[in-house]
Amino acid sequence: MSDETEFESTNFKVFVGTLVHSTWDIPMVILKNKVIGIKGRKIVFIEEAVKLDELQSLWKFSINNVCLLSDSQFLMPGLVDTHIHASQYVYTGTALDLGLLEWLEKYTFPIESTFKDLKFAEHAYTKAVHRVVKSGTTTACYFATIHLQGTIKLCQIISDVGQRALVGKVNMDCNSPDFYQEDSTDSIQDTERFVETLLNQGNANLIPVLTPRFALTCTPKLMSALGEIAASHNLPIQSHLGESKGELDAVRSMHPGYDSYSDVYDKCGLLTSRTIMAHCIYLTEDELNLLKTRGVGVSHCPNSNTSIRSGLMDARDMLDRGIKLGLGTDVSGGYHPSMLDAMRQAIQVSNIVSFEHHEGENYKPLDYREVFRLATLGGSQVLNLEDKIGNFEVGKEFDALLVNFEALDSPFDVFERDTLEDKIQKFIFLGDDRNIEEVYVAGKNITCNNKLHCKLH
Ligand code: GUN
Ligand code: FE
Repeated sequence: MSDETEFESTNFKVFVGTLVHSTWDIPMVILKNKVIGIKGRKIVFIEEAVKLDELQSLWKFSINNVCLLSDSQFLMPGLVDTHIHASQYVYTGTALDLGLLEWLEKYTFPIESTFKDLKFAEHAYTKAVHRVVKSGTTTACYFATIHLQGTIKLCQIISDVGQRALVGKVNMDCNSPDFYQEDSTDSIQDTERFVETLLNQGNANLIPVLTPRFALTCTPKLMSALGEIAASHNLPIQSHLGESKGELDAVRSMHPGYDSYSDVYDKCGLLTSRTIMAHCIYLTEDELNLLKTRGVGVSHCPNSNTSIRSGLMDARDMLDRGIKLGLGTDVSGGYHPSMLDAMRQAIQVSNIVSFEHHEGENYKPLDYREVFRLATLGGSQVLNLEDKIGNFEVGKEFDALLVNFEALDSPFDVFERDTLEDKIQKFIFLGDDRNIEEVYVAGKNITCNNKLHCKLH
């Protein structure tokens, strides 16, 4: 065996069995009896299983690299969380008694300020990233905190685990407590240093994202500077928009002279085709048109929107308008770090919107297939990664979950009467990390259970 063949064969992974994914035409496609080949980071073939022998002689992979999936297993694209605050994982599942602005003041800012302590940041971020990966999120778009070193630490942890991520150092230079606010110049300098540090590391799975927290805690001067940094490096931008009524009123009085909340961001150069805006519940027709024109992606965070009682986002309307849409957990406004929860909550919110706002109309709430697409392909589009990930196509990178609906200790049961589609639907509504047996990012197994890659401190 030549060196090259040896390298290729160890770098090869082949699965035979069922694949479940989305295309832009069909929200859920079930492909039975397939063989998928992964060489290095990328998918190199997807063929009928009967062609296995033929493919083996063509690609010269070892039979040891072939994994035959059982009837209870399938592969699906990895989940994409388009909006999550890694620092807020510490208090996820608590502190849900207040609405947005009071919640930020009483819980969020004090806890985020403790990430100044690098040891604590390392401990908390390690737990957060492991939990998120274990839940099947192969790509996450993270907010860290205002702290440069803590944010770099988060990147190092993500890199060690092998997750794909966008990571943002949070910026806030006004309207925040003394103990958790930056000087505008320091904020810009630290952000430049963060961007340079991350870009210099050259990790293809990690992208810096400019992160003005929201228009209430950022001056136009700061937001414009961040817009310029994004433009000069062609980088993504993330923030919050139109989340709660109280926030809307406050933005109006803090930023008079702008046409709308969205206009504040637009005038600062923050609405681009690489921008991700979380929530977007309360937008006018003009604002929705502006987002569409600029190519902004929206992160729908249904758990957060009901847990801190912000409101109901009409995801169907966003889709009908052709605005890029993905799902986010928004930990910890949303109390659950799993994207399976985000999928379920998106269905629940859409159901409520259908009977509360569209009774008697021919309005179709989101179904399980559509939220599956939003959590995979849709999310990849919002993060501008749809050429790389999101579904199973030859040439894309292999970010995937190996799911078993009869895993040991599975939280749900399947019966003989269940079709394969029923079983997949049960996984979406009832499954959890016990059903997620393996997690892959860019062809690499990064499965995060205590036996394998986890080094929990
Ligand atoms: N708006 C500004 N900051 C935040 C945050 O941390 N969480 C949520 N849900 N909304 C915000
Ligand atoms: Fe958020």
